[in-house]
Order: sequence, then structure tokens, then C-alpha cells
Amino acid sequence: TRTLDLAVIPGDGIGPEVTEQALAVLTKAAGRAGLRVSPTHYELGAEAWLRTGETLTDEKLASLREHQAILFGAVGADPRSTQVPSGLIEREILLRLRFAFDHFINLRPSRLYPGAVSPLSAPGDIDFVVVREGTEGPYVGNGGTVREGTEHEIATEVSVNTAHGVDRLIRYAFDLAASRDRKHLTLVHKHNVLVHAGGLYRRTFDRIAQEYPQVSTDYIHVDAATIYMTTDPARFDVIVTDNLFGDILTDQAGAISGGIGYAACGNINAEFTAPSMFEPVHGSAPDIAGRGIADPRAAILAGALLLRHLGHEDAASTIESAVEDDMRDHGAEQRSTADIGRAVLAGI
Ligand code: NAD
Ligand code: IPM
Ligand code: MN
Repeated sequence: TRTLDLAVIPGDGIGPEVTEQALAVLTKAAGRAGLRVSPTHYELGAEAWLRTGETLTDEKLASLREHQAILFGAVGADPRSTQVPSGLIEREILLRLRFAFDHFINLRPSRLYPGAVSPLSAPGDIDFVVVREGTEGPYVGNGGTVREGTEHEIATEVSVNTAHGVDRLIRYAFDLAASRDRKHLTLVHKHNVLVHAGGLYRRTFDRIAQEYPQVSTDYIHVDAATIYMTTDPARFDVIVTDNLFGDILTDQAGAISGGIGYAACGNINAEFTAPSMFEPVHGSAPDIAGRGIADPRAAILAGALLLRHLGHEDAASTIESAVEDDMRDHGAEQRSTADIGRAVLAGI
């Protein structure tokens, strides 16, 4: 039996609730494929910070690097707790991991499963993947505030986009599109206003497109993309976009596909120079935490993305089929986290 050595970061709020189910399902599916899962839990998040004063230490980062992959729940403080500065935990843990382990692909598939209820009256056949950039753009924390608190304050957030980063992102998206049935790739940006970053994206996209004559392409400004995602989401196959646009579009993509509770995410280092990290798209959901009602299917599907990334396609599709069966049987019925977890587990 081969061993899968995984780091598990349950985090805060509903993070631990959904991660427990995801790990159980992943362990069973891996077991069926002859793999033994060896999990190491790391206590990281707002709760841990309040207890210890530490976010992600260099020691923990070095230790996390030794695992084959990371299963991540969610981090983020309850906004009712005024002790945690806004975004501190997210930046110092989640974003630090994405940057340190070079997770330049933030992969976010959306499907309208049979049984899932879309808020759209005519959703059509939703089955697309957003390839969101993961380590650049406005997320790099490049900027500052001068004359803070005065009426002359100036706050800047400088988006950083490199030729290397945009090239490897767009190549990955073309490869993915070429591997899918419809072979269509859409670039989403806003090059009418963001001329510098948008120009780099557009030139890179057009250049690489020459190497993929089998992939059809189009370009949509991000504002219009939100229209089509509401009126005609079935038109999308693969979307490639910048870090912030991808963040926003994928919450919308989750919502139209029946809910953010089914949306999974892979933070992928496609060069395999560090472990990739898999998580639900959603956050710690303080509004429902502790009640045992969070939907664990996004976290469970993240486990499938993890197995696929490590080359265990059969185990990955086993999980996806079990979720699909559960969705067909129960859809959006009100069930507890544990009930959903048990039902999916029984389908493995
Ligand atoms: P959220 O995704 O946590 O919640 C948004 C809404 O979706 C809430 O109404 C919540 O109840 C609902 N929801 C989310 N997941 C659900 C699930 N599995 N089942 C059912 N309903 C679900 O976003 P937010 O409220 O903006 O953020 C809460 C905290 O999480 C913040 O601190 C934020 O920074 C953090 N956050 C962390 C991550 C992460 O760790 N990857 C991602 C997003 C937000
Ligand atoms: C996500 C989250 C994060 C992001 C936050 C918590 C930093 O919203 O994973 O989508 O903006 O990337
Ligand atoms: Mn987000």
C-alpha cells in the first residue's frame, strides 16, 4: 500500500466541521484505490492566534512543505470578535501559503449537479472551470497609505503582473481547455481600463492561442462576464482571469451552481515544486458555525481535486460520483453536515 502524506488545516468556524467529513471521504476513496492516508493536523487560524499569538510560523511553513498535499478548511475570525484585525488571519495564513508554495493556479470548477437548485430560472447546462491566477495581481499587498486619517489621505493597491506569471497561467488554461470536450477558452479581464495588466494578459493570450489551433477563444470584460454568468452560464467552458476578478466571479459561479456549499478549489503549484492545497471556495461562515448545518460537499469535492492532482484519477472520480449521486437523491434538502457526510461516504 502506498501512503498519502497529507497536512490538514481545519481552521476556523465551519472549517473543522466540513474538513472532518472531507477527510473521512478522501480516506475511504483513497483506500479503495490502495492508498493509505496519513494525515497530520495543523492548528492554524483565528482561534489558534487568539490562544497563542501566532499565525503561520516559519517552522510550521517548513513542516507543511514536507507533505504531499494540504487539505484546508477555512480561516477567518467571527466578525463579532473585535480582537482580530480584519484580514490578518487570511493574509498571514491562507495568502502566505499560496505565495510561499507558489500556488499560481487557483482552479475552481463549477457544475450544476442534477438535483442542485440554481437561483437562475434558466441555468442551462453549467459545466465550466475558472482558472484564477493565484499569486499575483492586487493580492500581493503592494501599496500603502499616506497621510492616513487626514482628508488628504491617499491609499494605493498596486496590482503586480509578471510576464512569467501570466504566461504559465494562460498556458495551463489552454492545456485544460484542449483536454475538454468543448475546447473553448475565455479570457476575462478589463483591458479597457486596466491597460497595463490587461495589455499583458491580452498579448500573452493571443500569442499562446497560436499554439492551440484546436481551442476556440474569446475575450469578455469582467463586468460583462457577470451578465453572461447570470443570463447564459452554459456558454462558458474554461475561463482564465486575474486573481481578484477570479475571486469575485467564482463566488458568483458557486451561487448559480446551486450554492457556495458545492464549490471546490485547488491552489495548485503546477510545477510540483511545493505541495498544492485544496479547500472549499467558501470561508469560515461564522453565521452558521457550530450548528452542524454547513454543507460539506465543497470540502469533499476539494478532496477529489487533491487526489486528481496527485495522479489518483480513479479515486477522484469515485468521490465526484458519490457526491453526484447524493445530489441527485437529496439536492438542496436541509440536512446536517454529518448526514451529508455519511451519505457520501456510503456511496464510496
Ligand atoms: P463565507 O463564504 O464564509 O460565507 C458566505 C455565506 O455563505 C454565508 O451566509 C455562509 O453561511 C454561507 N456558506 C458558506 N459556506 C457554506 C456551506 N458550506 N454550507 C452552507 N452555507 C455556507 O464568506 P464571508 O462571510 O465573507 O467570510 C467569513 C470569513 O471567512 C471571513 O473572515 C473571510 O475573510 C473568511 N474567508 C476565508 C476563506 C478561506 O479560508 N479560504 C474564504 C472566504 C472567506
Ligand atoms: C477565497 C477567499 C480569499 C481570497 C480570502 C479569504 C483571502 O475569498 O479563497 O476565495 O480572496 O482569495
Ligand atoms: Mn473568495
